[in-house]
Amino acid sequence: MRTVYVNGDYLPETEAKISIFDRAFLMADGVYEVTSVLGGKLIDFAGHLTRLERSLNELDMKKPAAFDDLLEIHRELVRVNEIEDGLVYLQVTRGSDGDRDFVFPDPETTEPTLVLFTQSKPGLANSPQAGKGLKIISIDDLRWGRRDIKTVQLLYPSMGKMMAKKAGCDDAWMIEDGHVTEGTSNNAYIVKGNKIITRQLSNDILHGITRAAVLRFAREAQMEVEERPFTIDEAKAADEGFITSASAFVMPVVEIDGQTLGDGAPGPVARRLREIYLDESLKTAV
Ligand code: PDD
Repeated sequence: MRTVYVNGDYLPETEAKISIFDRAFLMADGVYEVTSVLGGKLIDFAGHLTRLERSLNELDMKKPAAFDDLLEIHRELVRVNEIEDGLVYLQVTRGSDGDRDFVFPDPETTEPTLVLFTQSKPGLANSPQAGKGLKIISIDDLRWGRRDIKTVQLLYPSMGKMMAKKAGCDDAWMIEDGHVTEGTSNNAYIVKGNKIITRQLSNDILHGITRAAVLRFAREAQMEVEERPFTIDEAKAADEGFITSASAFVMPVVEIDGQTLGDGAPGPVARRLREIYLDESLKTAV
């Protein structure tokens, strides 16, 4: 049984409780972060906490604890749950003032809810999927207009994953005005010639922490990066595709809407970036 963290307490998972009036439960009024763990250490931790702070600010939510305290809670959960490889999930909600109301409760009297738990994923960095690559479908992007805030409103992305599954595929890329925004839970990239193309940051996509690191490493390795929207037709005609996220790192894409990319095997750019990302991010793991 896992030990989880709820509002100051470390508890067995079956004893952890949240109010039914919690605004995340009633209104999806909460934000989250997922930090991967490799070799018992947290990957890109500072980036995830910086983004958490930004999400909280954008929604006028109170910060539940100081950076150092949050780091300590992450580390303690990794330790007590003996996580070698896996994830730490953190969620902050606007809490509950004991009733349902569209209006935000007074932050002076309503404390945010803070929940963290771990997921063990042995061999996370050696996923067999990385050797095969992902099959992707494209779907309309029907999400709200502030996708830069990492909220727990994940119903549409979940529906997207189910649409992919029903089609015998692994994931979906979302399309707006003919252009790819991002994957259901990851950022999307194509490779044409030697150029890596990915949508620029805006409110249309989540500002991926893995994205920031991977683009930095790509530029340091003298790879050419172009940040601009690309169409789904451009993607289907690309030499390679890949996605990035905290849980998938860099994962090749080999098929889009039934169209094979390149020779149908993970491409050299995606494979190289995956290697560089795993090597480099371990150096700064905490
Ligand atoms: N998802 N875009 C979306 C919509 C996401 O949900 C995520 C992360 C990303 C990648 O961001 P990062 O590199 O910071 O993980 C992009 C997490 C992993 C999840 O929901 O489980």
